[in-house]
This record gives sequence, structure tokens and C-alpha cells, in this order.
Amino acid sequence: MPDRFYVTTPIYYVNDVPHIGHAYTTIAADVLARHHRSLGRQVRFLTGTDEHGQKIDRAARAQGLEPIQLADRVVERFLTLWDRLNLRPDDFIRTTEPRHEKVVDLLFRRVREKGDIYLGEYEGLYCTGCEEYYTESTAVEGCCPIHKVPLDRLKEKSYFFRMSKYTQPLLEHIRAHPEFVQPEIRRNEIVSFIREGLRDLSVSRTSFRWGVPVPDDPDHVIYVWIDALSNYISALGWDGSDGGGELFSAHWPAVHLIGKDILRFHAVYWPTLLMSAGLPLPKTVYAHGWWTVEGEKMSKSLRNVVEPYALVDAYGADAVRYFMMREVPFGLDGDFSHSALIGRLNAELANDLGNLLNRSVTMVEKYADGRAPTPRSAQGVEEKLIEVARKVTRESADHLEHYAFHKALGSIWELVRATNRYIDEAAPWTLFKNKENERLDTVVYHIIESLRFIGVLIYPFIPETAENLLGQIGLEKNHTSRKFIESWGGLKPGTRVKKGAPLFPRIDKDRAEEIVTRFHDAGKEEKAKKEDPEMITIEDFQKTDLRVGVVKSAERVKKSDKLIKFQVDIGESEPRQIVAGIGKAYEPEDLVGKQVMVVTNLNPVKLMGVESRGMLLAAGEGDKDVVVAEFHGDVKPGESVH
Ligand code: ME8
Repeated sequence: MPDRFYVTTPIYYVNDVPHIGHAYTTIAADVLARHHRSLGRQVRFLTGTDEHGQKIDRAARAQGLEPIQLADRVVERFLTLWDRLNLRPDDFIRTTEPRHEKVVDLLFRRVREKGDIYLGEYEGLYCTGCEEYYTESTAVEGCCPIHKVPLDRLKEKSYFFRMSKYTQPLLEHIRAHPEFVQPEIRRNEIVSFIREGLRDLSVSRTSFRWGVPVPDDPDHVIYVWIDALSNYISALGWDGSDGGGELFSAHWPAVHLIGKDILRFHAVYWPTLLMSAGLPLPKTVYAHGWWTVEGEKMSKSLRNVVEPYALVDAYGADAVRYFMMREVPFGLDGDFSHSALIGRLNAELANDLGNLLNRSVTMVEKYADGRAPTPRSAQGVEEKLIEVARKVTRESADHLEHYAFHKALGSIWELVRATNRYIDEAAPWTLFKNKENERLDTVVYHIIESLRFIGVLIYPFIPETAENLLGQIGLEKNHTSRKFIESWGGLKPGTRVKKGAPLFPRIDKDRAEEIVTRFHDAGKEEKAKKEDPEMITIEDFQKTDLRVGVVKSAERVKKSDKLIKFQVDIGESEPRQIVAGIGKAYEPEDLVGKQVMVVTNLNPVKLMGVESRGMLLAAGEGDKDVVVAEFHGDVKPGESVH
């Protein structure tokens, strides 16, 4: 068994806020990272953000921001969410960091030196949303099959990667390494795709600039997917040397967890690029399934129904983590519903686990002065319990080796239930009443010892709960390593037990209704905005690029008594020329030096032969009563108005 484990999530786009889909992959990676760490392996867990490309550029501009400003804001949201969910990556890579851009450049050069890059011409139907070209057959009536918008026919000079050359080597690799693409259904999909014969891949664009330039030909920007995929090695500081650098040689190859939407990029484009660059391929690409929300595809309004920050507020990080890992087999699609989450929280977390701890600790306090007693000889019931603990310890690890998170939890809960059953069968209250002290000590000891196993086993999934549980049975936080449960009986008699707050308060019917209504109202609000044609969404509003402008100069437009031509500083290198019909209310010099509000992304128009590239905001009915909107505080030219 390898003693190192490098796990990655996709790097998420920053044109959208984090949602449960993002949380899902990252939770799974965190669980694996914690598990492998608890086995004593050398672990590295990477996540991050994908910040280049036209999609991000446009989203930022629509909000009046530079792409990096948008990225900075969204990254902040990802980081806070990861923190709230107790996700602890070792590194967070952003594709706009110099350490990343350097590697994209290096990888491109390496593949080019290999003779695998050539200049050609690309023509196709392009979707900006997907950042992908479609062919006549993959487009649906000229529209993007995902975004349903008409595709742009684009023709551009482009560098190509000779991916076709790697058709056979990739098929051979997949045949020889069944663990490379998982689950099996995805492997079969990928194999049939490759068997059709791989085509060369267009790997540069000239249509936008927000990205890493092609080395020695800066008119081209490296295709965003190559930029994005390289994160997995740039974060390890791959330096192109024989060993690849210290971190790279210590950690590569990776296990990539991804959603099934981006399988082809990871199981075809990425490995063929690595082959060309002479680097080892990832160990595994595991494509998980897709979440729907309350039975429907996750739309914007439905995202609010399962907004991850709100979920953590309502249920706690561990309940969310537990639910997502337990509810659905990792490779399959699943549905996120509040009723299912509350059902599991009440039955499995509050009842099975929470009550077990609560009643156990109460018994230690009552029957054993709050200390773990010294056990005497075990009987059949104890042997049965120990047998379950051993089996579950083994099986849960096996399931995690196969990414079967739900089975691992199912297995751990066998022990939780077996311990509850053991308590019922051994009936310590009767032993106490009958003063069967030796037997009572044995039973109480076995209960806490079983809890100790459970604490270690649940740790990767619900770490906060695990630490709380272990704390209540008198152990330190760092007792989460699996080495502590290699054998039964590790708990030292005399260990002081300290009762704490219940692990998971039950959510009763009224509270459940209240929570669910709140989430659905948030969803409805979003929907209402969409459905009422009078209303606009925040995204609609943000399409207007509103900025602070400072009027530098103003003069009347010749032959017009109404039009004034302004030069307005809107934070760009040149002032913006704007023509406004306010000449009956103002003299040109009245406005010089004023801080005004400017719409900067209107199509240019000519007014009496003079070009106007924007609009000043003003109010008032007649020509003479017009008043220009002004700022009277400390604002800067170019600052966005929101
Ligand atoms: O694709 N159910 O970024 P992205 C489950 N930047 N998982 C989901 C999901 C859902 N409904 N929706 C999203 C990108 N995901 C690229 C990746 S990697 C080199 C570049 C998860 O922000 C899932 O992990 O669109 C999916 O692969 C990822 O979010 C896509 O995130």
C-alpha cells in the first residue's frame, strides 16, 4: 500500500459563488485526506480556483470589476465556506498566481519541444459559457446543448496539440491500470470515446487576453483548460527538472476527484498532455455523480434552497458533511432534500450516535465515579461487540480505498448500533442495582472503549463531532489516528470522562418546518425575480457598468443649445468623451471638477456628429430642471457604483 496520498478537487470557476456541488467534491477530498492521514500516510490535499478565460473576464466586466477583483472576492467566499465546513486543504492554488503561470508556460514549452504543438486554423461553433467549441453534430440546432444559447461561429489561428498521437498509448494505459478511471461506468464511456480516435486539440485562443500568453507568441493565450489542469502540478512547484522538484517528487501522482461533467478533460486531455511532457499520469481520476435539489436540476433559484453557508448555519458543518457522504454512492447521481437531511440527522446522528454518547457518559458518571473502570474477563456479549468493532475498522478502511464513502459510514454505524444493543443486553443498570460490581466495571469499560473506536472511525467524516466525543471520554484531540484502534483495550482505566453538550440536538417537527420554509422562501425570492418580467436579478443590474467619473472639461456642442460635450475621468488611461443634453440647465463650466455617475458600457452613439461613449445619470423632467447625480464624498474616478 503506498504511503503517500495526494488528493485534489477541481479548481472552481470564480464567476459563480460556491454551491453544494463545489462543497461536495471538496468534502469528499477532505474526508479522504483525513482518513489517509489517520492511517499515518503522507498526505497532501489541494483545492483552488480557476480564474482565467473569457467567461471570468466577461462576468467581471459585467459587474464593473477587473477580473482579478472578481476573483479576489469569490476566493474569499470559497475560503470562508471551506473553513466553516472544516475543510482543511494543505494548499489553495489560484491560476492567477505567478507560481502557477510559470508552470503553464513551462508545460507548454515542454510539449512544444517534444514536437507536439503546431500552428493551424480552427473553425467551429464556440460557446463562451463552456469555453468550448462544438461541432455541427454536438450542437443542438446551432445552440449550446448546456447553455441553450446560439453558438458563435469562430475562425481563428490556433496552436494545436497532437493529441491524436496518444490514442493508442492512452487506451493501453487504461487497460493496464483499471484504477485509472473510476467508477467503471465512466471508464467504459471514456474508452469508447478514445476508440473513436482522438483528434488534435486546439490549445490557444486569440479572441481574448485574460490568460497565460503562448510562449514566444503573445498574440495567443493558452487555452483555459490546459491552464486549469496544470494546477495539479503547479501547486507542487513542478520545475521541469528530472525529479520535478521536491514537492512534486514527494507527492505526485494524484488522485483527482471531479464531477462527471469534466471527465473528458481529466481522463483524456490531461493524461495525454502529461504523456507528451514525459510525466507520470495521475493514479486515479474519480468522477462522482451529480446532485439535484429536491428532485430538480440545480438552477439558480434552487441553489438558494441549499445555499451552503445557510445549510451550515441551520444544521452544522458535520450534519452537512455526514449527509452528503452518506446519502448517495459517490459515483452516482443523488438528490439533496431537507427532509432527507433532517431524517438522517435525527435518526442517525442525534439518536443512534448522540444518544449513545450521552447515555454512556451518564452511566460512567453514575456507576463508575466518572472514570473508565478496569475491565474483568469478557463474556460472549463483549466478544460479539469486539468482533463487530474489528470488522468495522477493517471494512470502513476498505470501503474508503474504493471511494465508497456511504458504505464506510454504513459500516461504522453497525458499530454504533451494536454498542447501543450491547448496552441494552448487558443492562448495566441491573448490574448496578444488584451490586454486581466486577461485571458492571467490565460492561462500562467496553461501552467507552467502543466509543473510542467510533470516535476514531467517524473522524474523517465528522471531525468536530469526533473530537467532541473523544474529549467527553477523556481523550485528547490528537487521538484520531487509526493506530490507536489497532487493538481493543487501548483505553486506560482511570481515564476521566467529562460530560459535554449533546452532539446533535434533534430537530423537531416545528423547527424542521421553520427551517425548510426559510430555505424555500429564499429559493422563491430568486424565482419570483425571474418570473416577474418587471423585476430584474442582481446579475441583470450588474450588467450596467456604473462608475464614478470626474468631469475634466466641458464645452457646448456647436450649433446645439442643449448638448454639452464632456471629458470624464473614469479611471481609464484616457478620459471618456460623453455628450449629455443638459445644456439648458447647466453652463459647461458648472460641472467641471464634479464627481458624477457614469454608465460606461453603453454602445457608442453620435449626437449631432459628436461621439458619446457613455451616459451621465441625471433626474428631472423638463430640459431646464434637469439635475445631474453627483457624489459628495471621498470617491475615486473609476470606482464601481453598486
Ligand atoms: O468545471 N453536483 O469549475 P466549476 C455535484 N473550473 N457536483 C457538482 C455539481 C452538482 N450539481 N455542480 C458542480 C470547472 N459540481 C473548472 C474545473 S479543473 C482543472 C477545472 C462540482 O466551478 C463538481 O466537482 O464549474 C464539478 O466537477 C465542479 O463542481 C465544477 O466546478
